[in-house]
Amino acid sequence: SKGTYPYYMLKEIDEQPAVLRRLVQEYINEDGTFNFDPKLIDALKEADRLYIVAAGTSYHAGLVGKPIIEQIAQIPVEVELASEFGYHMPLLSKKPFFIYLSQSGETADSRQVLVETNKRGFPSLTLTNVEASTLSREADFTLLLKAGPEIAVASTKAYTAQITVETILAQALAVAKGLPSANDLDVKHQLGLAANGIQTIVDSKDDIEQLAHEFFANTRNAFYIGRGIDYWASLEAALKLKEVSYIQAEGFAAGELKHGTISLIEEGTPVAAIITDKETASHTRGNVQEVQARGAKTLKIVSEDLAQAGDQIIIPTLETVLSPLVSIVPTQLLAYYATLQRGYNVDQPRNLAKSVTVE
Ligand code: F6R
Repeated sequence: SKGTYPYYMLKEIDEQPAVLRRLVQEYINEDGTFNFDPKLIDALKEADRLYIVAAGTSYHAGLVGKPIIEQIAQIPVEVELASEFGYHMPLLSKKPFFIYLSQSGETADSRQVLVETNKRGFPSLTLTNVEASTLSREADFTLLLKAGPEIAVASTKAYTAQITVETILAQALAVAKGLPSANDLDVKHQLGLAANGIQTIVDSKDDIEQLAHEFFANTRNAFYIGRGIDYWASLEAALKLKEVSYIQAEGFAAGELKHGTISLIEEGTPVAAIITDKETASHTRGNVQEVQARGAKTLKIVSEDLAQAGDQIIIPTLETVLSPLVSIVPTQLLAYYATLQRGYNVDQPRNLAKSVTVE
């Protein structure tokens, strides 16, 4: 039930710190070892490349999973849209391992790929929120997202849960492979910071509501921009905004705008930038100035260590590659409030169903 919440989407955004803590408890033991099926870890160790297959928000969680897994576990990862991959399978590596990300575990596009990879005898893992779901039953291994039922059509807590499980799994694989760098990143500590960080963001929802009002009022379109990990977060931020508020929103690599899309910027076009990577922060700030000079209204979502006067949303600093765990949360809230201000039912956007069981 929604309890005292007006909508499930807000309840589910608020639940994210608890979901992260639950996943740490579930998959990391007190002594720092990991609670994964040893057969799963062995199968992952044998692979020469991981293929993440997913749709929508789960695909976006896969895009973030790629640099996390590559950095921590030192194995190449490809991320594929299920609806494309099923019919246009690229040349695969010699020992592929397939990871299916699906909140519902019922997405037909993903299942269609799983049927094919099963036919070819490739090992597979499903990360899902629904026990005994189709994708879970048909894959070799399952890891549960433990996020509790996600009722709102727009996926929120499943995205952060997927990134969390990808992170813990990457660390377990790094340790199992005996990588010297395996403990460079204190994953448990980082996920604790992320849980606390999300909490501070959801506690400031009144400020974000106000910003949503100022920033998205009366607009038909909007942009989220970022580089690297912030680009992947921008794609999800834009999907969240467009699917519930019907504002045409695009997530864009900040440096690509000037190669064409900047022609869409007019007086008052909202452009939100996500800035959490110190390598590229000054470049993205430069792109913000470029659009501002062409009339855009801008909003900066910046991690604490990179914050400057005038940045509107400051988020806690994490290891860069994990930053979407916190950077996505203000964008979820912005989408939520922009939708309420427009008077739409944020839990049930038009034309959408919670699980998409047709190809
Ligand atoms: C967006 C959304 C969809 C789903 C997509 C995949 O908020 O909910 O984009 O993420 O349909 O669904 P699952 O994860 O159930 O496979």
